[in-house]
Amino acid sequence: MSVTKIQSIGVLGAGQMGLGIAQVTAKAGFPTTLVKATPGDTDALKKRVEGAYGRDVDKGRMEAADRDAALGRLNVTTSLDQLAGVDLVIESILEDLGTKREAFDRLDAICGDGAIFSSNTSTLGITEMAVATKRPQRFLGVHFFNPAPAMKLVEIATTLMTDPAATQAVSEAISALGKTPVLVKDSTGFVVNRLLVPYMIDAMHEWSRGTASIDDIDTAMCNGAAHPMGPFTLADYIGLDVVFHMATNLYEEYGEPRFAPPPVLRRLMLTGQLGRKTKRGFYDYGAKPAVVNEALTR
Ligand code: 3HC
Repeated sequence: MSVTKIQSIGVLGAGQMGLGIAQVTAKAGFPTTLVKATPGDTDALKKRVEGAYGRDVDKGRMEAADRDAALGRLNVTTSLDQLAGVDLVIESILEDLGTKREAFDRLDAICGDGAIFSSNTSTLGITEMAVATKRPQRFLGVHFFNPAPAMKLVEIATTLMTDPAATQAVSEAISALGKTPVLVKDSTGFVVNRLLVPYMIDAMHEWSRGTASIDDIDTAMCNGAAHPMGPFTLADYIGLDVVFHMATNLYEEYGEPRFAPPPVLRRLMLTGQLGRKTKRGFYDYGAKPAVVNEALTR
């Protein structure tokens, strides 16, 4: 089965990442089908994309006519069957291997033989997913960063079975989104999370060692290393459950202590303090501006 140019895209999973990815692909000119994997309000999702495009128009980054055209290219649905005709599927559902494999199994029966499948997983194995499909040669990792509309990088992860023509077709599509593709071999965490997760973990160790306070460590890294966010603000932004699961997956895979989730991360996660999305993590976002979580100052 030959691989052709990617002309249409399906995104499975309409969480923060899936929604952001679909926003980007429709804006870049690809007819896009966004499938919400769980029951819910698809109109509300489309309204959110409309709102994001509206901000682009307000900032002079998009013409009103282009906004309308992009919205016209975006179909939001809960029906997996509507992915039947797409050239590329980008899966962005729950970070659970069994759930993802089940979704790809269903997609194998729905999508055309030439369609390329990809997963936006952070730290699960692409190979483990690819070998469970009927198209391991047309299966890749396509890893976007949060927030997807703003972050330029997309890691493209290949396995021992990936057809170079599929890699080429996906790289071209990613470049057409205005993103920068970087090729990586399938390996838990790829490049960025293998470097970024231990960095956030190290910051937590420095805090628990008493080197400096949470906000001073963040201030130091913003002003001393020109990072847009310090490590604690970033961890809260990503979500402490996500950081915890990434660290756990990396630790299980490599067995290196630098990936082991520190106690403070585990305790915040167990108490439902997951960062920005729960309004409290390393910082308390109930206050404006956010202040360090009082429980971590005692
Ligand atoms: N959606 C779309 N665009 C957004 C956005 C969002 N949620 N948040 C910010 N932006 C855009 C803004 O429109 C703005 O664009 P402009 O300058 O062209 O107008 C630009 O990003 C900067 O935004 P702001 O001025 O509002 O805010 P900041 O300057 O504070 O930037 C930030 C916000 C882009 C989030 C910046 O703080 C940043 O880059 N932080 C680091 C984020 C990061 O490291 N992400 C990677 C996380 S790891 C990951 O995703 C891996 C995964 O596997 C877990």
